[in-house]
Amino acid sequence: MTETLLTVAGLSKSFRARGTGLFRRPVRAVSDVSFTLQRGETLGLVGESGCGKSTLARLVLNLIPPDSGHVTIGGDAFTRAGREAQRRLRRRMQIVFQDALSSLNPRMTVGVNIAEPLRLQGIGNAAERREAAHGLLERVGLRVQDAERYPHEFSGGQCQRIAIARALILKPDIVVFDEAVSALDVSIRAQILRLVLDLQQQLGLSYIFISHDLGVVKRVSDRIAVMYLGRIVEIGPADELVRGPLHPYAEALLRAIPIADPRRMRVRDLGLAEGEAASPMNPPDGCAFHQRCTRQLAICASDIPAVHHVSPGRSTACFLHASPAASRQAAD
Ligand SMILES: Nc1ncnc2c1ncn2[C@@H]1O[C@H](COP(=O)(O)OP(=O)(O)OP(=O)(O)O)[C@@H](O)[C@H]1O
Ligand SMILES: [Mg+2]
Repeated sequence: MTETLLTVAGLSKSFRARGTGLFRRPVRAVSDVSFTLQRGETLGLVGESGCGKSTLARLVLNLIPPDSGHVTIGGDAFTRAGREAQRRLRRRMQIVFQDALSSLNPRMTVGVNIAEPLRLQGIGNAAERREAAHGLLERVGLRVQDAERYPHEFSGGQCQRIAIARALILKPDIVVFDEAVSALDVSIRAQILRLVLDLQQQLGLSYIFISHDLGVVKRVSDRIAVMYLGRIVEIGPADELVRGPLHPYAEALLRAIPIADPRRMRVRDLGLAEGEAASPMNPPDGCAFHQRCTRQLAICASDIPAVHHVSPGRSTACFLHASPAASRQAAD
């Protein structure tokens, strides 16, 4: 029996462009994004640098307000809830970032860092909080003695374990990993991924796992959402999406998996048309991907494709997979 833990409905967010200048246009970082997260599942979120993954994470965690749309946790409205309700709901969702060391307070011991969310929420006394931090240190593969040391004494992988311990101290239901393993060497990355999956088994956690690297995402995810220029262009079960992607952009990302450093991949590596890459400051009319798409139809340059339900659990925003009527119109 599945239980929907998180519902994200129609989230959009624009920023005023950074810098100065007469022609500064707003940056549409996230456009009309909807998805659900089931209890115990991992939803992978993948897409190129700048496509809006971190902004979406911040919206889901209610760290920034959306322009429109809302988030519901276990049936409770989160986005525009009152302060007390927000505080209570915030406990249920935690985030782990790429740069663990800078997310820890260098002047606090590791034990105090891990226990800090408990103190901020006013939970337990000092001895109870210390006890809880010790328990989590062991759970993430460190030693109780490490509680007395400082963050800079630890390696990148160890810092990521400390950040994970801190994310778990409030016993959340959902953990968002935003590029949490991207900076780690391959062997350390494998260890942290193993830990993340073990913790999910032991604690029944639900994850949103964000990475620009589909190779990593497909190893941990039950379902995958592919983002392009602020929109989810395809979402579906990980194995089906990897075996037979529907959206031409998802296809291109899959072709790029063997590339050693996906951050450096170029249009040519993705096997895309050499069109101008679209920017969130100046999105093209129609489908944001059409200039790079090798299979574009006439309609793609003028209309934005809606998300179509294609088969059980699978949806994509692409006219190639739209209803027969839309495809006919496209061919005319
Ligand atoms: N506070 C902000 N002010 C202005 N623009 C912003 C702000 N935050 C993000 N953006 C812009 O919004 C777009 C999406 O950024 P975001 O960081 O969400 O992408 P991302 O997919 O997480 O990228 P990466 O893979 O590099 O982490 C980018 O064009 C970015 O420059
Ligand atoms: Mg990011």
